[in-house]
Amino acid sequence: MNILVLNGSPRKNGNTQIMVSEFKRGAEEAGHKVAEFPVAMMDIHPCIACESCFRNDGKCFRKDDMSKIYEALDESDLLVIASPVYWYSLTAQMKTAIDRFYAYLLKGYRIKSAVLLLNAHDSNESVFDTSVSNYRQIIGYTKWKDEGIITLPGMNYKGAAEKSPKLKDVYELGRNL
Ligand SMILES: Cc1cc2nc3c(=O)[nH]c(=O)nc-3n(C[C@H](O)[C@H](O)[C@H](O)COP(=O)(O)O)c2cc1C
Repeated sequence: MNILVLNGSPRKNGNTQIMVSEFKRGAEEAGHKVAEFPVAMMDIHPCIACESCFRNDGKCFRKDDMSKIYEALDESDLLVIASPVYWYSLTAQMKTAIDRFYAYLLKGYRIKSAVLLLNAHDSNESVFDTSVSNYRQIIGYTKWKDEGIITLPGMNYKGAAEKSPKLKDVYELGRNL
């Protein structure tokens, strides 16, 4: 299957990237094709609700890096949302990219299932509540099947994810898809 991974961290080689790389390693070993996009390092502008996409077969009028993600979206079966927690939520950059999925509301998505990968400094799991709730509501609305949610709390320095006991779960999730 084709997997579209969005990484919402602006930090190069940070904890989210560590999670994404482990997930990708597992998924590729299982024979899946993974397309990864660092949305926080791409030129992606917010949706302005013009709804020209609704009149143009899902084509957004904007000419920015989201076009690369739309191309992958056309071919993808599973979406991975990978993000650090910023102020108890997904990063603004991730949210901006997700908002642009609005363009496909009428046309429909090829995506059938999703995965959520999160990490945060706080060691209390409740730090993930808003992001998990947001994800569940999105996939409830789109009718995508949840393939797994993995949260890494206590990520109090860059690279901490390497030492997380839950990192192997991220690999396994990809490997067992
Ligand atoms: C702007 C900003 C807001 C953050 N907000 C939170 C927060 O609300 N709760 C928390 O536990 N960590 C918070 N963090 C810490 C990050 O979630 C944590 O460092 C994470 O591991 C970073 O992932 P990365 O290395 O992939 O960028 C915040 C970090 C930044 C830069």
